[in-house]
Amino acid sequence: MPTSLSPSTIEIVKASVPALAQHGTAITKGMYARLFRDEHIKALFNHSNQGKGGSQANALAAAILAYAQNIENPSVLMPVLERIAQKHIGYHILPEHYPFVATALLGAIADVLGEAATPELMTAWGEAYWFLADVLKAREAAIRVEIENRQGGWSGWRPFKIVEKHRESDVVTSFVLRPADGGPVIPHRPGQYLTFSLRLPGGQEIKRNYSISCGPNNISYRISVKREALGQGGSKFLHDSVVVGDILEATPPAGDFFLADEPDRPVVLLSGGVGLTPMVSMMEKIERMHPDLQVHYVHGALNSATHAMDCHVRTLAQRHGGISVHTFYSDPLVADTLGVNHDHQGFITAAWLRNNVPFHDADYYLCGPKPFLKILVRDLARSGIDASRIHFEIFGPTDEQMAA
Ligand SMILES: Cc1cc2nc3c(=O)[nH]c(=O)nc-3n(C[C@H](O)[C@H](O)[C@H](O)COP(=O)(O)OP(=O)(O)OC[C@H]3O[C@@H](n4cnc5c(N)ncnc54)[C@H](O)[C@@H]3O)c2cc1C
Ligand code: HEM
Repeated sequence: MPTSLSPSTIEIVKASVPALAQHGTAITKGMYARLFRDEHIKALFNHSNQGKGGSQANALAAAILAYAQNIENPSVLMPVLERIAQKHIGYHILPEHYPFVATALLGAIADVLGEAATPELMTAWGEAYWFLADVLKAREAAIRVEIENRQGGWSGWRPFKIVEKHRESDVVTSFVLRPADGGPVIPHRPGQYLTFSLRLPGGQEIKRNYSISCGPNNISYRISVKREALGQGGSKFLHDSVVVGDILEATPPAGDFFLADEPDRPVVLLSGGVGLTPMVSMMEKIERMHPDLQVHYVHGALNSATHAMDCHVRTLAQRHGGISVHTFYSDPLVADTLGVNHDHQGFITAAWLRNNVPFHDADYYLCGPKPFLKILVRDLARSGIDASRIHFEIFGPTDEQMAA
């Protein structure tokens, strides 16, 4: 990462950290209010993530604060920037969108800080914003070129036909998608997601990410979607309205959470609920490409009614020979029998992992509800597992984790 900000800009930005920490979320909320005055820019976002908790605002606030705090050594932010760049690729954010955020962010800083927003401070933040924006734009341009140049690659929104739809549990349904143009697809890295632009029956268009739940191939993708009762209805729309033959638009696979290309140590795949989707993708690749890899697939579900893809996972494990499967039910039904359709009752814990997987030797991949992730990521780290070996995906913006 280049370090060409002037010393005075660095000083002013550093000095603004306490004010930003105090007003960070207010600034980004104000920024979004300004940004969304433009309908074209507003349509680029997932508005569920702007909601009650304001987690998208928190994620951006945390990123800006982390940037200001590390302005003398911004290379420590590279993993965070890679995640943001991947998100931007998914949402098809282009260089021409950056000036809108600059104007909205600087306007919001001026609104919230009032007299403290001196001309020097505003100039320094303008320079700092464009410095960060240029790093992101360069990385995003490189990712776009890489994706477009691969066989089956594309840029922006591509129409896909639904060629299969099947029920995986009471709450999860899978959809298999092939390009409507009949061409190939890029093999994704297992763990990556597609971003969809969904036109709801009322005409509203919304953006949603879904992890790819099949192994990489040149022909199709599969997603597996949990029906959410509340909210704007992307998942309800997919469950209730989308049928085989329908067309959905998606951007290329993106995301910085994926199985190592050449895993060289045992792998523990930890999932809760619909968080199993990236793990099933990894399992399919492992079954085909990594016959000698030792794998522990550990999954938590409420009970057999919500437990998805169990048969498929056990078939993959049987074919491979080196994959052990463990399922936990936290709320078993009367008809659920321990040892028959689940292996353990309760929640997955670090204490259980310590006794049942190669605890200190493994690479960990996690995906599930936020409390599941928070507890397990924290407990693995506290047990001495190096952060570089704990990989996780969140089905939403990375607010708390990025702020930590
Ligand atoms: C990288 C990534 C990968 C993902 N992969 C998958 C996947 O493989 N499978 C999958 O099923 N999902 C996945 N998701 C989640 C998915 O993108 C959607 O968030 C999910 O389907 C819910 O969308 P929705 O439009 O149905 O509901 P939303 O409108 O997004 O609402 C979701 C939830 O937010 C809360 N909520 C929203 N609005 C309100 C309100 N007004 N009042 C009260 N509560 C509210 C509710 O709890 C509601 O159930 C992924 C997300 C990300 C970021
Ligand atoms: C320097 C400039 C920018 C920074 C620091 C930044 C930061 C972020 C962060 C931290 C996230 C959340 C990533 C995650 O969930 O892990 C994000 C996501 C996103 N950003 Fe940016 N961003 C910038 C510019 C832009 C621009 C110019 C646009 C478009 C106008 C944009 C649109 C989006 C969208 C649509 C998402 C996904 C939102 C979601 O998941 O709901 N960003 N960005």
